[in-house]
Amino acid sequence: MTEARELLLSRIRDVPDYPQPGVVFKDITPLLADPAAFTVLTDELAQLCVRHGATKIVGLEARGFILAAPVAIRAGLGFIPVRKAGKLPGATLKQAYDLEYGSAEIEVHAEDLCAGDRVMVIDDVLATGGTAEASLHLVRRAGAEVAGVAVLMELGFLGGRARLEPALEGAPLDAV
Ligand code: PRP
Repeated sequence: MTEARELLLSRIRDVPDYPQPGVVFKDITPLLADPAAFTVLTDELAQLCVRHGATKIVGLEARGFILAAPVAIRAGLGFIPVRKAGKLPGATLKQAYDLEYGSAEIEVHAEDLCAGDRVMVIDDVLATGGTAEASLHLVRRAGAEVAGVAVLMELGFLGGRARLEPALEGAPLDAV
């Protein structure tokens, strides 16, 4: 394991039985509160965006916003929010999806993505893959191309990578 990865993993707290019994919540607030760790994470994600030729960064509400915004600045790219339904004021594209616990709908301003854009989707956790999968559908429905998906961590036992595979259409999925 690299030194950077070791530092990042050491700053993620496991919270058992949250938000419901049997679920172990991955709390990234200790990482965000540590400027050295947050900087390492931002740099690692920004490098992936550059490597994969991204021209725009999509962040997934809410924790994905916290990671994607500084990455967008570091990579010199625009930040596009994908939000839970009902939060964006303009004309949107909507996509329903299933979560590890419950279901939801996400949306993006239709004018924020267009043909010619290469989009990197950034989030904190890939769990079942439902949120990331829905975001890739939004990106493509907007006419843009997927440069890749990058997350801080992947919960392998939930099978998110396998679920996401078809929607990736060969684009990379990276966990820092
Ligand atoms: C969490 C997490 C990811 C998603 C991963 O978001 O931040 O976006 O779930 O789960 P999946 O791979 O099963 O779709 P959530 O909407 O629970 O909470 P948040 O608004 O605090 O980010």
